[in-house]
Amino acid sequence: MKNFIQNLPKAELHLHIEGTLEPELMFKLAKKNSIKIPYQNVDDVRKAYEFDSLQPFLDIYYAGASVLITQEDFYDLTWAYLLKCKDQNILHVEIFFDPQTHTSRGVAFGDVVEGISEALNDGHEKLGISSFLIMSFLRHLSEDEAIKTLKESLPYKYFIKGVGLDSSELGNPPSKFQKVFRMAKNAGYKCVAHAGEEGDASYIKEAIELLGVDRIDHGVRCEEDRELMKRLKDEQIPLTMCPLSNLKLKVVGDLKNYNLKKLLEYGLCVTVNSDDPAYFGGYLNENYEAMAKSLNLSKEDMKTISKNSFKASFLDDEDIKKIIYEI
Ligand code: HPA
Ligand code: ZN
Repeated sequence: MKNFIQNLPKAELHLHIEGTLEPELMFKLAKKNSIKIPYQNVDDVRKAYEFDSLQPFLDIYYAGASVLITQEDFYDLTWAYLLKCKDQNILHVEIFFDPQTHTSRGVAFGDVVEGISEALNDGHEKLGISSFLIMSFLRHLSEDEAIKTLKESLPYKYFIKGVGLDSSELGNPPSKFQKVFRMAKNAGYKCVAHAGEEGDASYIKEAIELLGVDRIDHGVRCEEDRELMKRLKDEQIPLTMCPLSNLKLKVVGDLKNYNLKKLLEYGLCVTVNSDDPAYFGGYLNENYEAMAKSLNLSKEDMKTISKNSFKASFLDDEDIKKIIYEI
């Protein structure tokens, strides 16, 4: 199965580029940029990665991102992830970045976008990996701040495919961001949102009905609402699920009880993704392997999941058809 998963062509649709910052690069950049981090060494960092919910993870994840300062840092971070993609036979990636995490520290929006985009461009030319960039709004901040970020992004629109919504879910429902998503849609951006990771099914419903998203990031808790399940199925609204993330952040206690198989069998367009692989102990193939093992999934199931990853992507229909045929 491991070889089968390795050889399967895959797309990754739920990946925070800041969540690919491995401790080794964190230390290297901290030293180069003279940024203090609260760890003595790489082992120390890994030991700190024990979380009992989303918020303690986010606190550490934002602290880690503080070592990223220059355009070159964002290039190096992205390039390291793309090399990993090449290793894992990932042909297409749709990457989130959190501009507010960086602009709030005085890093220029353009440095972030251009550093990431240059690496993505090289990834296409040198590694044959296609990609899109998705700008995520931090939902613990206000909608006005999200609108300011949206406006800042417009000169760089050429580099950005869509907008997303991430960070602390509970207490920050999609309804808080209706205006900025409407503006983003009018500007021609695709829309996605994290929903139903810690928030209940109403967050997913709101993301669809009030934000008009093209897909749901996570969506684990959709099962709580039968009508919503039917809509997700009828309209084939994709879920970008992240098993190792959900295990690490205790969204699920044991992957043997994870609902991915059930949702797949019900007919939802379920995909598997890695979220923040440097923090959650596995990149994309490790997530596929965890699903195969814990849920006893077959090679056919793995193929369905990889086909779904392209079907749910923002690639052109013709490109999607071609790759699905090849799979
Ligand atoms: N949930 C919400 N925000 C995030 C996550 C996540 O899993 N990863 C990075 N930002
Ligand atoms: Zn995420």
